[in-house]
Amino acid sequence: MRTTVGIIGAGPAGLLLARLLHNAGIDSVVLESRDRAYVERRQRAGILEQGTVDVLREAGAGERMDREGLRHDGIELRFARRRHRVDFPALTGGRSVMVYAQTEVCKDLIALQLKEGGPLLFETEALAVEGAETDRPRVRFRRGGAEEGAEDVLECDYVVGCDGFWGVARSAVPDGRTFERTYPFGWLGILADVAPSHDELVYARHDRGFALLSMRSPSVSRLYLQVPADTDADSWSDEQIWDELERRFETDDDWTLRRGPITQKSVTPMRSYVHEPMRHGRLFLAGDAAHIVPPTGAKGLNLAVGDVVTLARALAHRTATGSDDLLDAYSATCLRRVWQAERFSYDMTTLLHSAPGATPFEDRLQLARLDRIASSRAAETDLAEAYTGFPIG
Ligand code: APR
Ligand code: PHB
Repeated sequence: MRTTVGIIGAGPAGLLLARLLHNAGIDSVVLESRDRAYVERRQRAGILEQGTVDVLREAGAGERMDREGLRHDGIELRFARRRHRVDFPALTGGRSVMVYAQTEVCKDLIALQLKEGGPLLFETEALAVEGAETDRPRVRFRRGGAEEGAEDVLECDYVVGCDGFWGVARSAVPDGRTFERTYPFGWLGILADVAPSHDELVYARHDRGFALLSMRSPSVSRLYLQVPADTDADSWSDEQIWDELERRFETDDDWTLRRGPITQKSVTPMRSYVHEPMRHGRLFLAGDAAHIVPPTGAKGLNLAVGDVVTLARALAHRTATGSDDLLDAYSATCLRRVWQAERFSYDMTTLLHSAPGATPFEDRLQLARLDRIASSRAAETDLAEAYTGFPIG
């Protein structure tokens, strides 16, 4: 097989890159190891920054998002039984966010790719990226159902690893530097068939641990509970989950948490990770293949969008002018935005989670940081600007 851009991975990064390249008249092939149902069902992110919303609309992939997505103009911080709303448009000159799950973004992009784009091969596992230093890189891969040992090769001009944290592309970048931090806790996440108990997201800092109220639709709630890192989701009964959420969302007013049947339960580990550089020769890394953020700041999908928008622009520039200057700047351009998102995600995570072994002094510091945000427009603006998104490129 031969294509201009070989894309490994059909998550948000790979699918959006294929769409942006298609719109720029650049052909690509997407290799995805899992099947379509798995990709479309995998529960992960839920918040689209203003910049991501704009990119999806401009790419012709925003129609259902505009119909079914929920525009949110703020979030609530909850601590010491207090409630403080952060007003995004007032603090950022009009920016807001969209609640629209990455499962839905992937469904929309898959439908477009299958209808108008190049080959999107599910159940096709990339085995290795070779020749990245040459002008003829290639991807060795195995098609679903092929007999053991039967391999194919995708010849490319460029290869982009959009294959997530556990993919193969990053290992083809020699002498990379990694920067990481793991956290001694994770999130137990649930989907529940119950109307959200608040019309915006609620981030709660509590002595018992962090809790987050989010949503997928007016009738489906998405909630998270800080748990020890090695927690088995099945060790929590539905009643225990609701009881603990209720404790952590406690307020001084009459707010109540509505309960309902839990339809999905899983534990997400918490990690900060950056691989530098995000390029080696004609191999580029984008999205989780290059960086991971703890989900507290809702940055993962939005960072992936920024990477692939930057790369698509650089490839289109190369096609139009023959110049590699934007491709040569890709890694540094993306990493500047990545590190800002890492800083914000780390700050939000340490602000709201009760780390095991935290001292009373550290607990009071958290409350002082939250009180500062609730009483200082400057502190609140930093959060609102970061949450609604850093400029791309
Ligand atoms: N060959 C082919 N496909 C692969 C391989 C491989 N060797 N390894 C992994 N993949 C696929 C995975 O099955 C997955 O569908 O690559 C895809 C990677 O997708 P994501 O992990 O979602 O990563 P990315 O597209 O960068 O999305 C970034 O979006 O889902 C949200 O918040 C989430 O931070 C994440 C963000
Ligand atoms: C979600 O809805 O899944 C979600 C929302 C906000 C976050 C993390 C996850 O910070």
